[in-house]
Amino acid sequence: MREPIRTERLVLRDITEADAELLFELDSDPDVMRYVSARPAVGVEAYRERTRNVYLPLQAHAWFGVYLVFERDEFLGWAFVRPAPGHLFARDLGWTREDEIEIGYRYRRAAWGRGIATEAAAPLVARALNDPATASVVACARIDNVASLRVLEKLELARTGEAVLPGVPEPVVKLARTARLIRPY
Ligand SMILES: CC(C)(COP(=O)(O)OP(=O)(O)OC[C@H]1O[C@@H](n2cnc3c(N)ncnc32)[C@H](O)[C@@H]1OP(=O)(O)O)[C@@H](O)C(=O)NCCC(=O)NCCS
Repeated sequence: MREPIRTERLVLRDITEADAELLFELDSDPDVMRYVSARPAVGVEAYRERTRNVYLPLQAHAWFGVYLVFERDEFLGWAFVRPAPGHLFARDLGWTREDEIEIGYRYRRAAWGRGIATEAAAPLVARALNDPATASVVACARIDNVASLRVLEKLELARTGEAVLPGVPEPVVKLARTARLIRPY
């Protein structure tokens, strides 16, 4: 496991197969999944498999990955950074470049409204932008997911366009940030 990332209130650590139950429970709340384009996986075993096949390989890189976010010992949710072509709808979004790095996140309802998503994503965005191999950090959120769009705005991503994704009832807003950060993580 890589060294956890620490912020003022949070610890971000690498995901493991043993975390499948946490992922499953998080996705079991329809409010959490309300604006998420991908359908939740079915059953804990499916999350274990996804972790093994998709998430763990990302951790071979210095900073790509799905990070579980904890406040003291309480699991709040997760944030990820990975090359944008890994998105389920990468083609529809025009995300074909491996040097474009996507940021994403998902938190339990109990964690909402306290700046957690922004605080956890900030060091991931910083790591991405401080790596000379990164062209930009990108993200997308449904146009009606006001909270997520606000998080991305606070992370200084700017709107670059919209896309319509198959089976997704509202358009998604695409955002990007290319400027380098000064503060290292
Ligand atoms: C979206 C989500 C990550 C936000 O997490 P969070 O920890 O509450 O985010 P933050 O507290 O850092 O910031 C949220 C911002 O949105 C604002 N906000 C929240 N709901 C809002 C609403 N309905 N209208 C306007 N602003 C709203 C908050 O006031 C805050 O902005 P501020 O700091 O300027 O006051 C969280 O709600 C979540 O996990 N949702 C379910 C999964 C999801 O939608 N993931 C994103 C998919 S793109």
